[in-house]
Amino acid sequence: MTIIVTGGAGFIGSNFIFHMLDKYPDDRIVCLDKLTYAGNLSTLEPVMDHQNFRFVKADICDREAVFKLFEEEKPQVVVNFAAESHVDRSIDDPGIFLRTNILGTQTLMDACRKYGIVRYHQVSTDEVYGDLPLDRPDLFFTETTPIHTSSPYSASKASADLLVLAYHRTYGLPVTISRCSNNYGPYHFPEKLIPLMIANCLNDKPLPVYGEGLNVRDWLYVEDHCKAIDLIIRKGRVGEVYNIGGHNEMRNIDIVKLICKTLGKPESLITYVADRKGHDMRYAIDPAKIDRELGWKPETMFNDGIVKTIQWYLDHRAWWEEIISGEYQQYYENMYRGR
Ligand code: NAD
Ligand code: TYD
Repeated sequence: MTIIVTGGAGFIGSNFIFHMLDKYPDDRIVCLDKLTYAGNLSTLEPVMDHQNFRFVKADICDREAVFKLFEEEKPQVVVNFAAESHVDRSIDDPGIFLRTNILGTQTLMDACRKYGIVRYHQVSTDEVYGDLPLDRPDLFFTETTPIHTSSPYSASKASADLLVLAYHRTYGLPVTISRCSNNYGPYHFPEKLIPLMIANCLNDKPLPVYGEGLNVRDWLYVEDHCKAIDLIIRKGRVGEVYNIGGHNEMRNIDIVKLICKTLGKPESLITYVADRKGHDMRYAIDPAKIDRELGWKPETMFNDGIVKTIQWYLDHRAWWEEIISGEYQQYYENMYRGR
């Protein structure tokens, strides 16, 4: 089987490629990635010489390049991870989010229609459901929770989801969608909460917590997300949405304190900064459907996963130091200076 994985030079896509090549060495994986600021070819170094792996630098919005690749590879499955993924950047500059996340999805699905595929899988997010109140811990997102987005990022992801379902209903395209909670683990780009706090701690820099740090996210170890997608593309029902999450809700401030403690750094590094605009309070996934239908359960508990993740950042300093030494510095200045 040939699988096109878009966005495979980013955080979750690269972990997915490693998982797939390891588990199914006879399947061919073709990674299509534009290598934006978030894509890193060095991440894919361990598989570059794998006989069943091919990397192609291209934009998912580039119709000609995408169609040419489908013509050459005739994939059976497409898994679309490619996206602009950072909420703060979407607040600053929404346009690129609409282009990549919506029009890129359209381009990929048009190629799927033209060349024919067995499955198109859209990697979506729990953020399409908006947020839940902190004082109702009994509420969770299910697959039937109405779409109710807050940020340009989540609005673009929700738009793409609607388009994917429309291509299924109108053209009969065999699609599935997964909506996962916040991931953490190796190769997470250091603009996101957990790797940013680890990197800043290791550099004895202030730890910028938005608002009062009381917002809750539902954290899942990236490998568990990859295993869930693998199951969905093989056994999931066409036309269906599957929520993915591990019932691991944590307040931001508690995560930052845990990182300080694990690295032996003082909590005095914590600096409360101006809140994110439209900041979602709480995300919490009900994963009952994927458990019931596909037998998926998370395998890595947060206490183990966070220790493994911190150790990975200690062992791979060169990977993230290279990233934060480049254009990231300008981003950090703009986002955090005087905040
Ligand atoms: P990321 O930002 O780390 O990686 C995105 C990748 O997509 C990069 O390699 C980038 O170069 C590539 N890309 C961006 N624009 C492109 C374009 N126009 N054409 C081709 N490639 C392009 O993102 P991530 O955290 O790995 O997220 C992957 C997917 O999972 C996204 O669709 C995101 O919405 C979704 N998701 C992420 C999380 C999370 O916690 N990170 C949770 C749920 C869902
Ligand atoms: P993030 O990793 O950007 O993921 P998302 O917004 O998609 O959930 O942020 C996770 C939480 O951490 C979110 O509530 C915002 C907060 N946060 C901070 O407090 N400080 C930071 O520097 C960052 C990047 C995030």
